[in-house]
Amino acid sequence: MKTTQKIASLLVAAVIAVVFLFGNLAQAQTQAKAKPWPVPDKDKAMKAPANTDVATGKDLWAKHCKSCHGSKGLGDGPKAASLKTFPGDFSAAAFQSSTDGELLYRTDKGRDEMPKYETKIPAIGDRWALVAFMRTLKK
Ligand code: HEC
Repeated sequence: MKTTQKIASLLVAAVIAVVFLFGNLAQAQTQAKAKPWPVPDKDKAMKAPANTDVATGKDLWAKHCKSCHGSKGLGDGPKAASLKTFPGDFSAAAFQSSTDGELLYRTDKGRDEMPKYETKIPAIGDRWALVAFMRTLKK
């Protein structure tokens, strides 16, 4: 390779790196932190049934939730970067301090980019299984 060619390809690589870096920074800056999500008292007070099957929850998570929330609920699924709102870190104390009822309600009703699962996953037992699985994501 001639020196001029080498310099040219180094320049191209540098330009690509800069574009990539700034693209990522812009993405990080435009992704909003989720706003508080209040839940009616009646729903908030609900508790997951004791015999809930976590394995079912794990399967449903892989099928419906992982693409955005990530396999460990860190908010790093393959679709996460293209969302306007950060899907949250479910391993964090702030998330885990929500009641079972709050997690069920948010899963059921959805908001903006968070789909509603009340009709997509019609069996209430399955949605409780998802809540039980989300508890296992605690750090
Ligand atoms: C298309 C991407 C996407 C998918 C798929 C998705 N979510 Fe979400 N989820 C989000 C986003 C974005 C938020 C933050 C929404 C907000 O606060 O406005 C969120 C928020 C939540 C919250 C509330 C978080 C909190 O802090 O209390 C729960 C609970 C939740 N998701 C559960 C689930 C479950 C369970 C599934 C699968 C059955 C699922 N999500 C599938 C994008 C997604």
